[in-house]
Amino acid sequence: MFITIEGIDGCGKSTQSERLASWLEERTGRRTVLTFEPGGYPDGKRLREFILTGGNFSPLAELMLFLADRAEHVAKVIIPALSAGHNVICERWNESTLAYQSGGHKLDISRARQLIAACNFPEPDMKIFLDVDPELAVSRIMLRENRDKFEDEGLGLMRKVCEFYRELARAGELAPIDCGNLDEDEVFSAITEAVAWRFR
Ligand code: TMP
Repeated sequence: MFITIEGIDGCGKSTQSERLASWLEERTGRRTVLTFEPGGYPDGKRLREFILTGGNFSPLAELMLFLADRAEHVAKVIIPALSAGHNVICERWNESTLAYQSGGHKLDISRARQLIAACNFPEPDMKIFLDVDPELAVSRIMLRENRDKFEDEGLGLMRKVCEFYRELARAGELAPIDCGNLDEDEVFSAITEAVAWRFR
């Protein structure tokens, strides 16, 4: 089972991904690899830092850097884990690239889709979108000591990215979890319910 978790910065992805990984491991009896992008592979930290704190790249260069990072991640972590029969939960995937580089930074969407398609990365079995109000997410981000350059763009970027994710969800490309006024446990229940339904 290959599941990706999407959402704007500050949506609670990491907490929920960790909980989902333990839940899935117990439920399926299979080892569950929890990973993330960018940089979720051995020595991936260097490229992650370069992308997230490096220069002011054009949206096209930004997309290509994220695709290069994904190619490494696929080769070093995702394919080996899936081939060994493990479950994989990955924070962020192609839909992050669409939402941030096209939705947020206005790279032409058909060009972005073409370039992503050309990479032929594995297709997740389920793609979850944690839909959190951008104001709430940004208020959480602002409490962080170390923010990356996307987080520093703040509410303006997060609103555009969120709207784009919502469009993808309306088009059936993501399974949305409306986090609205839910607390952490309630969000987790909504996620496990959606996963159990998808793999019933
Ligand atoms: P993280 O904070 O979830 O680790 O993600 C790092 C940042 O990178 C986040 O602000 C979203 C951004 N990002 C993109 O813009 N495009 C992508 O394809 C990916 C994977 C992440």
